[in-house]
Amino acid sequence: MPTTMPGHVRAASLSELEAHGQLTVTVGGHTLALFRHQGRIHAIDNRCPHMGFPLDRGSLCDGILTCHWHHARFDLTSGGSFDLWADDVPTYPVEERDGAIWVDLTPPADARTRQRDRLEVGLEQEIPLIVAKAVLSLMEERHTAGEPFRAGLAFGTRYRDAGWGQGLTMLTCFTNMTPLLDADDRPRALYQGLSAVARDTAGRPPRFPVRPLPGTTPDAATLKRWFRQFVEVRDGDGAERCIVSALRAGIAPATVADMLFAAVTDHRTIDVGHPLDFTNKALEALDATGWENAELVLTSLVRGYAMADRMEESNAWRHPIDLVAILEAAFERLPDLWDRSTGNVDAADVSPLAPRNSQFLDTLLGDDPQAIVDALLAALEQGHAAEAIAQAVAYAAALRIARFHTSNEFGDWDTALHTFTFANAVHQGLRRAPSPELLRGVFDAAISVYLDRFLNMPAARLPEPQPGVQSDTLLADLGALLDRQQQVNAAAQLVVNYLATGADPQRLLATIGRLLLREDRDFHTIQAVEAAFRQYSLAADATQRAHFLVAAVRYLAAHAPTVRSQGQTYQIALRLHRGDALFEE
Ligand code: FES
Repeated sequence: MPTTMPGHVRAASLSELEAHGQLTVTVGGHTLALFRHQGRIHAIDNRCPHMGFPLDRGSLCDGILTCHWHHARFDLTSGGSFDLWADDVPTYPVEERDGAIWVDLTPPADARTRQRDRLEVGLEQEIPLIVAKAVLSLMEERHTAGEPFRAGLAFGTRYRDAGWGQGLTMLTCFTNMTPLLDADDRPRALYQGLSAVARDTAGRPPRFPVRPLPGTTPDAATLKRWFRQFVEVRDGDGAERCIVSALRAGIAPATVADMLFAAVTDHRTIDVGHPLDFTNKALEALDATGWENAELVLTSLVRGYAMADRMEESNAWRHPIDLVAILEAAFERLPDLWDRSTGNVDAADVSPLAPRNSQFLDTLLGDDPQAIVDALLAALEQGHAAEAIAQAVAYAAALRIARFHTSNEFGDWDTALHTFTFANAVHQGLRRAPSPELLRGVFDAAISVYLDRFLNMPAARLPEPQPGVQSDTLLADLGALLDRQQQVNAAAQLVVNYLATGADPQRLLATIGRLLLREDRDFHTIQAVEAAFRQYSLAADATQRAHFLVAAVRYLAAHAPTVRSQGQTYQIALRLHRGDALFEE
């Protein structure tokens, strides 16, 4: 194709355009619509950015081109849309020379900046299609979540007055899972997480973070004491000022994490455990993006601590047995026991859940809260690591889901889920910033497992592997199974059958991840799967690992299939991104 300048291609002759008034040409792999309007020639991409309708079949009036499928309107000169959901359409510079029309197809030098801007627009206006297109472009070269995740984190922590919520938790869960997913599922995961952030912020006032204390900052111990006191009296502003002052003073990340974990466990399992899980996720988000974002991210947690419901105020924790009184008596012993447990760091070796100590697990899953608390205290007294005990409680919580009987009310899945994600967050917190205060969370989680005991009566049978099953069809079978409602036990059986074949477990994780992304799943389902994957990665015992995946797939199967509308939007974005045809007559 003849060119006069790099990037310029001859698109048509002037006489052809004059003869028809409008032309459609394919040059350099692009199909362009050429218009002459008020003496100027315009070249625009012929595919409507909304769903690909040919724009040469639109109507041009007063410089505005209207697509006829959903009636989006575009400024012919700039390509900017007046209907934001449709996105802007690319336009190309045009030259007339020697009786011909030349179009400059050089990609814009700021293409990446433009995609970042489109992502912002998608988040601001809550337009999932624009979010999906921007994510696909931003992750095209690098398959990592980094750039879109940072953008979503900054947006979500700034533009929601209530601070960290479900959207940012989902975004962080999906981002955590990306290394386990197939490469073509990674942008889909980010798209879903970012769409959740957009939903969570839509129509909400922005958040104006509190400034740090002026002048000299008090020491970390003082700030921690004040912070807990302010959360206690539900003073969100005062508490936030302590955190931002600690961060501005350069107090170490582990010390700041300890401040947060202490305050969030000063009351029993606040807001069914969400604030602690959010704290864990916020710290994981900083692991991924850098501590320089800590002020915006960590201050977004504080209002949730101050305003949360406290389980001391709930009937179930007070009657017929005063569980809070049992816990408070145990907590008095924790500072003394703490020193004995922290010396023991080899969780795999000392885990009280090793087969030889299965009595511990039976007690955790039993119906005597005093015995449960005594067993935890005894484990500490014996020198077991706090982290290992937390891991055991997380396993017991996962078993509540793995053995959840479907005769329960459907909403009870969430009850078991809250305990599991809380227990997982306590475990992760103790790995990051161990403290006797956070250790209280292990006891809270264990009592929550106790309170959920009737969800396992009768208990669903844990599946045993069936011999002679081939691994290659099992993953496809799992997908087909989750096309039908309530295939909870059959899905669990498939998981253990697959693991028993010795086939690559990473393929199973990637498949469960893909099936999760296929659904319009709610906040809790992504929490369940992500926490189960985390526990799977940390468990030393093969049976326990299998049970975590059984819990994940049972929860997912209970909540599938959905209408899968999010996947439909993503497919449209993907086909537009690849240049596939969308509109067919
Ligand atoms: S408005 Fe053009 S395809 Fe929808």
